[in-house]
Amino acid sequence: MYHIISIRDFERRDLDYLLDRAQEFDAGKYQPRMLEDKLAALLFVEPSTRTRMSFATAMARLGGMWISVDSVEASSIVKGETLADTIRVLSGYADAIVLRHPKEGAARLASEFATVPVINAGDGAGQHPSQTLLDLYTIRQAMPVDGISVGLLGDLRYGRTAHSLALALSLYGVTLHTIAPEGLEMPESIIFELRERGMEVVEHKDVQEVLQELDVLYVTRIQRERFPDSASYYNVASSYRITPDLLTDVREHLMILHPLPRAGEIDPAVDRTPYARYFEQARNGVPVRMALLREVMR
Ligand code: NCD
Repeated sequence: MYHIISIRDFERRDLDYLLDRAQEFDAGKYQPRMLEDKLAALLFVEPSTRTRMSFATAMARLGGMWISVDSVEASSIVKGETLADTIRVLSGYADAIVLRHPKEGAARLASEFATVPVINAGDGAGQHPSQTLLDLYTIRQAMPVDGISVGLLGDLRYGRTAHSLALALSLYGVTLHTIAPEGLEMPESIIFELRERGMEVVEHKDVQEVLQELDVLYVTRIQRERFPDSASYYNVASSYRITPDLLTDVREHLMILHPLPRAGEIDPAVDRTPYARYFEQARNGVPVRMALLREVMR
């Protein structure tokens, strides 16, 4: 049994293996009822559209079943049940548990109590490994990931998608440009870790300093729900926005990605440029999660 908790647990060959499998699923090279006798429990203790629905879609496409908790209010979590107890119970119902939780470390904790595989679908400001796989998958469809320049723009302090992706990219010799408003910079501990892994990391304040050098620009929203108070959110709200005007003289193959939802940081007019790839990226969540579910429930 294996859990999918953090990108830190993966070597490059594990990521490449999963991406290759995802490509096969995408090309329709699989037995349609492969997970016929399997059931996944989707335990979402935090809002989600894409992640939850693409995991459910992936199960359905493979002939599997799923059960889900979609809100804290509708579950016994409001009665004070511990995560450990919920996980022990769900282990008796399902063949895998997909967990989204507001607390960093929740998925790791869950994996200690689960007797079935746990997939981390986002733990607070921690990690979001299945998102990273679909991010890598989307890049890889357009260009080899090795040695490219990637800009991570936005809330790099609380953004778990940025944390996971940066760690994964460090396995591909990527040069990382971090671009964050003041106070939302990538935590120093992560920058240190990336550099220890041999990654070149360049920190910026303004996207225009580096936009023309990038192969991929990965934009993220400000993670308002993780701010300690609303004043600190309003200090940084609307501090960056990608518009078509900014995209003059960029590399021809520049790819703009966003894990979505967006909240104003990409002008919808950008959607009509050839650089916008975020809807395609969201779509890639399905084959990637098919590959993941298949691997953990073998
Ligand atoms: C992201 C998340 O939940 O971390 N969404 C997603 O899974 N696609 C990004 C976000 O909420 O900003």
